[in-house]
Amino acid sequence: MLQIILILAIAAVTFYLLLRKPPGLPHGPPGWPIIGSLFNLGTESHVTLTNLASTYGNVYSIQLGLQYCVVLCGYDVIKEAFVQKGEHFAGRPSPGMITKVLKKAGYIFQDYGPVWKEQRKFALSAFRSFGVGKKSLEAKIHMEIDHLVDYIAKENGHPLDVSHVINNAASNIICSISFGTRYEYSDEVFHYLLHIINEQFRIDSGTFVGNFLPFLIDLPFMYREYKQINAEIHKFIFGKIEEHRATFDPDNMRDFIDMYLSEMERQHRMDAKIKFTDFLLYRSIRDLFVAGTETTTTTLLWGLLYMVTYPDIQKKIHAELDDNVGHDRLPCLEDKRKLPYLEATIMEIQRMANVAALSRHCTTRDTEFHDYVIPQGTLVYLNIWSAHFDQKHWKEPYKFQPERFIGDDGKVVKQDAFIPFGTGRRICLGEQLAKMELFLFFSALLQQFKFTIPEGGPTPSLKARVGITLTPHPFNICAIRR
Ligand code: HEM
Repeated sequence: MLQIILILAIAAVTFYLLLRKPPGLPHGPPGWPIIGSLFNLGTESHVTLTNLASTYGNVYSIQLGLQYCVVLCGYDVIKEAFVQKGEHFAGRPSPGMITKVLKKAGYIFQDYGPVWKEQRKFALSAFRSFGVGKKSLEAKIHMEIDHLVDYIAKENGHPLDVSHVINNAASNIICSISFGTRYEYSDEVFHYLLHIINEQFRIDSGTFVGNFLPFLIDLPFMYREYKQINAEIHKFIFGKIEEHRATFDPDNMRDFIDMYLSEMERQHRMDAKIKFTDFLLYRSIRDLFVAGTETTTTTLLWGLLYMVTYPDIQKKIHAELDDNVGHDRLPCLEDKRKLPYLEATIMEIQRMANVAALSRHCTTRDTEFHDYVIPQGTLVYLNIWSAHFDQKHWKEPYKFQPERFIGDDGKVVKQDAFIPFGTGRRICLGEQLAKMELFLFFSALLQQFKFTIPEGGPTPSLKARVGITLTPHPFNICAIRR
């Protein structure tokens, strides 16, 4: 008995010492021992974290499980931290699932430093050579759009859940850049792969319990699905790398994997300081594939949902497309400047939908911020949601109003507080590609179809399902050919 009391006492003292709040951190809501406020966040943690700012200010700390985190809300504070003190806030935390299952590598979870910089520089240059922002990639995206339009048109306006085909189409773009393959919408194996990636996004939300109580991950019966999904994605991507190695031709760079293999060879020849490895290649492809598929798909789905919810706005876009593009060809990037209402609507969809509502960073050193001292390695939430509904920067922020992005001269105006791709050093690597895809897919779908809610069917909800991204609940729509 005495032994048990002694063990419990030692455990309690250890926890107390481990969980002592670092003295320089801002104040915040009181938390329970060990779990902190982890179970007080509710199902919409981004909203709860935003609402807490009205009590504790735009810079506050919160205990989540075994760690203290800092939450930064409102555009001004976000800019101050992630842009003006960018390097100090450019780290990525090592939540349990990453260190224990995925391992730190690639772009998203790579520490801020020379390896991350080299990998990112390489990816951006590879994107440029595969035509991101240019005609060559536009032609590829148009080909995919033709497949998508044909598929949707075959349904003849009957109620349809478009989530799988849009997911497949968006994924085909990043797949063709990464490993030169597009998959038919009827491909069962690829369908399954997309399904498990979506499941992984659903399980690992920004405030996912396993990340804050990491010992749970070591228990063999916990998160079995997540671990199994990870193993399957690993097998799929390593299969692609092996196929490429077997057919590699240094005079014909087919895709990202070829370019990476070529760079690996060059670095080994030159005995370069930073070595690209098979594992880094696997993680790079995984990040591009996972980050590039889910976010773009989800934004397009929100787009369709907003269009059926606001038919007058859809009508205005139809008129703009008819007047400036017509029906003889698909809209192309050059048309963008003639389609300000459409572009403003895409921006408003991104602002309202907040596909990536919370981004996780960490401090790369002890840093002074707003009279506080945030120790190196502290998890910091960049609350994108709070910037997109910041009353100081947006008039009536909860209203869906594309006009807010149009200036008096009728042209699109950039708004500082619009940050769907994040801001600062870790800003989305795929921003240019995503903007290109969103414009081409969205404009083509609206050129070709009128979208409506099925007759007598329920009005789809604009409330999100919360995972790493905010996704719409499943919905059916009718696509009537124009
Ligand atoms: C509408 C589509 C997209 C949205 C809303 C989006 C949003 C974001 C956000 C908010 C971040 C985090 C920024 C931060 O931590 O401050 C991010 C990071 C990232 N995104 Fe995207 N993204 C989109 C599409 C894409 C695409 C198409 C790709 C690649 C093909 C991509 C690849 C990445 C990568 C690799 C990172 C990690 C960057 C780093 O840590 O250095 N994203 N994205």
